[in-house]
Amino acid sequence: MTAAPTGRITVTGATGTLGTALVRELAGRGHRPLALVRPGRGGAVAGPADPVEADLGDGGPEAVRRLAGALNGTRALFLLTPFHPRQDLLQRTVIEAAAAAGVAHVVKLSALGADPDSPVLVHRQHGLAEQALADRCPGRTVLRPNAFTQNAAQWLGTIASRGAVLLPVGRARVSMVDVRDIASAAATLLTGPPGRGEVHELTGPRALGYAEAAEELTAASGREIRYLDVSEDEARRAMLGAGVPAWAAAARLQLYATYAAGEAETVTGTLRELTGRPPRPFGEFARSLAERIRALPAPGAAEAAR
Ligand SMILES: NC(=O)c1ccc[n+]([C@@H]2O[C@H](COP(=O)([O-])OP(=O)(O)OC[C@H]3O[C@@H](n4cnc5c(N)ncnc54)[C@H](OP(=O)(O)O)[C@@H]3O)[C@@H](O)[C@H]2O)c1
Repeated sequence: MTAAPTGRITVTGATGTLGTALVRELAGRGHRPLALVRPGRGGAVAGPADPVEADLGDGGPEAVRRLAGALNGTRALFLLTPFHPRQDLLQRTVIEAAAAAGVAHVVKLSALGADPDSPVLVHRQHGLAEQALADRCPGRTVLRPNAFTQNAAQWLGTIASRGAVLLPVGRARVSMVDVRDIASAAATLLTGPPGRGEVHELTGPRALGYAEAAEELTAASGREIRYLDVSEDEARRAMLGAGVPAWAAAARLQLYATYAAGEAETVTGTLRELTGRPPRPFGEFARSLAERIRALPAPGAAEAAR
């Protein structure tokens, strides 16, 4: 008989979009993970987890030492870092800490298109981090999801102001993937034996265009929503106006250019293989956004009230 593995599952990014779904998924399978959160954020974890407070740090030896202490007793680590101008550095800090703490299995959240030589910032960051992980952690698995379906929640601002989804992507089709399905795949891997460097490309069930996504939101909410294919300049102005930092707007525009070039159309069967279930269609998340869409003021209502 093989002894059950000892040690805990630790989730980084546990207060974010995917991390929240993962903590819930693990709980549904009877696991209570450690949630690595920034100092003071322990109360923000939505779900049954034990918070461990530590900053992802700056890549320096002191940050690695502190994080390695926080990862002490971890058998399987879910590695997720935020969209950040130096995301590669944040990832490298956690990878060094995991190696120092002797973590047996790291499941890294990467991105479709990850490549250390990519001109696209996010793809380059994840490509570099995948290399660092391969160098330092033999027990590893990489998840490369396409754009998250949940990004549709970022469209609420322009749905309110203009009744539209505004993107500079033309007729691009994207096989968006629901974070709940990524969480399910991650939970299966984290609760199983350590990987040996497998790379899984994760997509939704089909590629859909943004006009179609707008139609799905219209059908779900009963409110007329259009898709407007805008120029990169207009998209940048809209993002800056909504408070998105300049580096982040530039990074998102790079990703949108990959969509427009057809690079996010791929559909894989990997999620079904990992989870045993078909991935969720966009319409399912559209229905869960319906209430929030109906609660938005009508386009032009703010100006009319002035
Ligand atoms: N969005 C997409 O379409 C997409 C597609 C493919 C891959 N990805 C990748 O997905 C990842 C982002 O996932 P997400 O959207 O779930 O993230 P998210 O919602 O932005 O959450 C980021 C998490 O990181 C935590 N965090 C931030 N700075 C920290 C620090 N200094 N120390 C410790 N924790 C810190 C945040 O904690 P607080 O709550 O305290 O801020 C939060 O829990 C990125 O690697 C991105 O490249 C995204």
